[in-house]
Amino acid sequence: MATILIIDDDPDVVRLIEFALRRAGHRVLTAKDGETGLAITQAEHPDLVIADVMMPKLNGYEYCRRVRAQEDLADILILVFSARFQPIDRQTAMEAGATDYMPKTVEPSELVAHVEELLSTSPAAAKVKAGQVVALFSLRGGVGVTSLAVNLSLAVALTRRQPVALVDMAPLAGHAALMLDLRPTGGLHKALASDGLITAETLKPYWQIHDSNVQVLSSPMSPGEAGEVPPAAVQPLADSLRQTFSLALLDLPSTLSSSTAAALTAADRVLLLVTPDVASLQSAAIALQALNTLEVDTGRIWPVLNTPGGVGGLSPEAVSKALRRSLVATIPYEPGMLSALNARRPLMLSSPKSAAAHAIARLAAQLM
Ligand SMILES: Nc1ncnc2c1ncn2[C@@H]1O[C@H](COP(=O)(O)OP(=O)(O)OP(=O)(O)O)[C@@H](O)[C@H]1O
Ligand SMILES: [Mg+2]
Repeated sequence: MATILIIDDDPDVVRLIEFALRRAGHRVLTAKDGETGLAITQAEHPDLVIADVMMPKLNGYEYCRRVRAQEDLADILILVFSARFQPIDRQTAMEAGATDYMPKTVEPSELVAHVEELLSTSPAAAKVKAGQVVALFSLRGGVGVTSLAVNLSLAVALTRRQPVALVDMAPLAGHAALMLDLRPTGGLHKALASDGLITAETLKPYWQIHDSNVQVLSSPMSPGEAGEVPPAAVQPLADSLRQTFSLALLDLPSTLSSSTAAALTAADRVLLLVTPDVASLQSAAIALQALNTLEVDTGRIWPVLNTPGGVGGLSPEAVSKALRRSLVATIPYEPGMLSALNARRPLMLSSPKSAAAHAIARLAAQLM
């Protein structure tokens, strides 16, 4: 799945290609003019942009020039999609910095096929093929980071029938293994203590395997073994995970230690959890600042709204507005979450038809 931005002032064109791209499993953002398109490009760093030529404020060629003038946007693919199809139009688009050009006479299916082809040649696609490491994070504790990590890993392992890694990075008494009814053994810390060196091979004996094929590296349970994962071990850990799994989830503790900072930097995506209250919004805003300082690209940060509390929460629109970011997923309040925890049978297994399980399954599909 890629994040794709469509910039076009014709709502019918937008609706048509937005529908086709979403059906192909992509996350789609839209803008009605070049200026808004540029602002979204800077904020969201999409993988690919489909840009019209004749549109208000900033035309498609000028949009391409402005994007290419910014070094940090260099890897964004731009497909100019225009009603004009003379050879000179293609040439102007390419000179302005477009990756490719397509006339608007093509069918949506043809456009989607072309988009897939462009994406498959991009550096981002190569990374996804190598397996992706996704960090789940919040600077406020108790917002549902572990519950989401556990349920997301189950959603992917069960639908794709492939192993998914779940790494509990808590320095002590993390809950990932507990939620899956596995006995926490502190696998990651044991691997670090016995070998020092983290490779796919040295991690092998420490995985705890759930029936679903979610494989867990649990956090230590005894205060004597407690401690942050050394920051220098985080990059080798991420590399080993990419080698072995197509998806690995890092359940991060809610502090900005050097260990979590290393994990946020090493991850291919960061799911930033926020709950619909001002305290969580404050934490999320500070987390976004920290991620910016760590030079984590904004396109890699996916804000997710979770609702562990019942009534009185802010609306998703208010949360998105306050963060100045669109939400990738909204997970509703699910009363069954608590009994799932107490039964050690996560929601994805105990209530797969619930609205929250559906929202998590959709997020899993977007990730893959
Ligand atoms: N969408 C939801 N609906 C209802 N309850 C939820 C939801 N998400 C999480 N919870 C509940 O919120 C509580 C905290 O969840 P969880 O332990 O996953 O949070 P956390 O962010 O990992 O916390 P910690 O900071 O302790 O690591 C749990 O009781 C869980 O069942
Ligand atoms: Mg947790």
